[in-house]
Amino acid sequence: MKHIVKSWDDYQKIYQYSVEQPQAFWADIASEFQWKKSWDKVLEWNFSEPNVKWFQGGQLNITENCLDRHLESRGDQVAIIWEPNDPKDQEIKLTYKELHQKVSQFANVLKKQGVQKGDRVCLYMPMIPELAIAVLACARIGAVHSVVFAGFSANALADRINDAEAKLVITADGSFRGAKTIALKDITDDALSHTPCVETVIVVERTKQVCQMQEGRDYWWHEEVASVDADCPAETMDSEDMLFILYTSGSTGKPKGVVHTTAGYMVYTYYTFMNVFQYQEGDVYWCSADIGWITGHSYIIYGPLLAGATTVMSEGIPTWPDAGRYWATCDKYKVNQFYTAPTAIRALMAKGLEYVAPYRLDALKVIGSVGEPINEEAWEWYHKYIGKSQCPIVDTWWQTETGGMMISPIPNVTPLKPTFATLPLPGIQPCLVTQEGKEIEENGVEGLLCVKYPWPSMIRTTYGNHERCKQVYFSMFEGKYFTGDGCRRDEDGLYRIIGRVDDVINVSGHRLGTAEVENAINEHDAVVESAVIGYPHEIKGQGIFAFVIVNDEISEQKLQKELKELVVKEIGPIAKPDRLAIVSGLPKTRSGKIMRRILRKIASGEADQLGDLSTLLDPSIVEEIKSLV
Ligand code: PRX
Repeated sequence: MKHIVKSWDDYQKIYQYSVEQPQAFWADIASEFQWKKSWDKVLEWNFSEPNVKWFQGGQLNITENCLDRHLESRGDQVAIIWEPNDPKDQEIKLTYKELHQKVSQFANVLKKQGVQKGDRVCLYMPMIPELAIAVLACARIGAVHSVVFAGFSANALADRINDAEAKLVITADGSFRGAKTIALKDITDDALSHTPCVETVIVVERTKQVCQMQEGRDYWWHEEVASVDADCPAETMDSEDMLFILYTSGSTGKPKGVVHTTAGYMVYTYYTFMNVFQYQEGDVYWCSADIGWITGHSYIIYGPLLAGATTVMSEGIPTWPDAGRYWATCDKYKVNQFYTAPTAIRALMAKGLEYVAPYRLDALKVIGSVGEPINEEAWEWYHKYIGKSQCPIVDTWWQTETGGMMISPIPNVTPLKPTFATLPLPGIQPCLVTQEGKEIEENGVEGLLCVKYPWPSMIRTTYGNHERCKQVYFSMFEGKYFTGDGCRRDEDGLYRIIGRVDDVINVSGHRLGTAEVENAINEHDAVVESAVIGYPHEIKGQGIFAFVIVNDEISEQKLQKELKELVVKEIGPIAKPDRLAIVSGLPKTRSGKIMRRILRKIASGEADQLGDLSTLLDPSIVEEIKSLV
């Protein structure tokens, strides 16, 4: 395996090589895979259009590299361990051979239903093995998967189905989440009343709850797989053929479909998985994310399977049946690398050590964090009580758009510093720029985080709207990819992500646009205008605060209830405001722009540091809001 970093000396040499000869560097790694035809050109790029192409001329199928490639050497090794919601239920272990067979079989179901290369398939599913199988089955036949997190509402699902023009949807009768069940098929049916593009629905039986099956449109998974054989040759894909779309929130408008393509994504997720987790043959690795997010795509499915790892996938939630569930699961499977989000760590930390004490965690070698800034207290607790002060914490900074981890410690090699994602991984060239776009060379500074050279798994486009991709990421600072994050670089050159500088908020590691939540709130008849901001929240990282102006005599209690319900209906429970205040006006500039900065300061308890208010139209509003909050 080339360019795996094992020492500080390695890191320096490999990093330098990756910057000086990026094409040779990535070609070295790419050559470890099975190609149907090798590439002609490693990289072609410009960031102004943007146009980025990796491994052009190459042909491959990512599932041959995730599955077929391992059959001879580790066909009987467990590929996926599935831990059910209820710990009393039986886990499922699928070997590489079995997974290969199930993927091929379901790929044949998709084909039988008329799905062809390039068609989009939407997956709205619980965390069950069929989700991983369906993702890979799409890739097997060259269909583009669009996984929608199963916590999103019918409206949010319909928007995503329509934007991608998916012709087939895969869902389940219901899903288990702790003590609750969610009627996924009913939600899907609601969505499907607004999605003319969908021809077929395949339904996995999970909860066995009653649901409607529409004749000629809806089919049961188990009946369909019984009618096809388990041999499905992998479709030949060009390196730059689309692999998947994943919707994510931005500062304006509806969520956008981030597009990832085949070869670059494969090379990058594999390489970063190996480096950041220092995965060794036989290790058991667990990422607790949901496959509905990029973390699950890259580091439950693709990265680990490309590496021939054993990857755990869990259906449940961290606090059910009790707050020891993560640690019980780590103990049960002797997990060696564990990867989770700061929100989960903070929530479990708050429950107390009695939930950690009963379990043996001594198989752990590396523990990871992703999705949001990890505060120092949570870092220390994770390090001391979960890692027993023996396991390096990899605080990995990356994004849906980056496809894979970008800035992260490499365990036992590069330095650790609580709350710092530390150093760029080989091949990644981050930089900090000023508001004016000037690159800041020195250390001990803060700036806007950009990346100035392409990496294989970077966003290629936003589905159906290339201009939007260009505007959002490549127009702010010429020749650079702009991340949307503010960042500090300390005296030693270590990076610490401060948080978003745009109107994106990060609630429990879930990314939401404030405009999306405002649009939902504005649907209410009594609402004239609203402004939504994120404020510091002890467990969730950021909470959602909505300031609303209403036109009617409506009781505050009723409005609170109805607005929360409305947001849940429009987006999903993850977007439900934590706090709502009815105000008579919003702080605006003379040109009518809402000064969210002022609302953020007030909601963060920093009302004494409002900064320059000279452009503010009506200062009395600020006083009113201060007294309300
Ligand atoms: O603000 C950063 C934050 O999460 C954003 C990306 O969100 P998403 O696309 O949903 O992907 C999350 C999983 C990769 C970033 O712009 N973020 C992600 N990781 C970290 C982080 N903030 C601080 N530290 C991190 N390790």
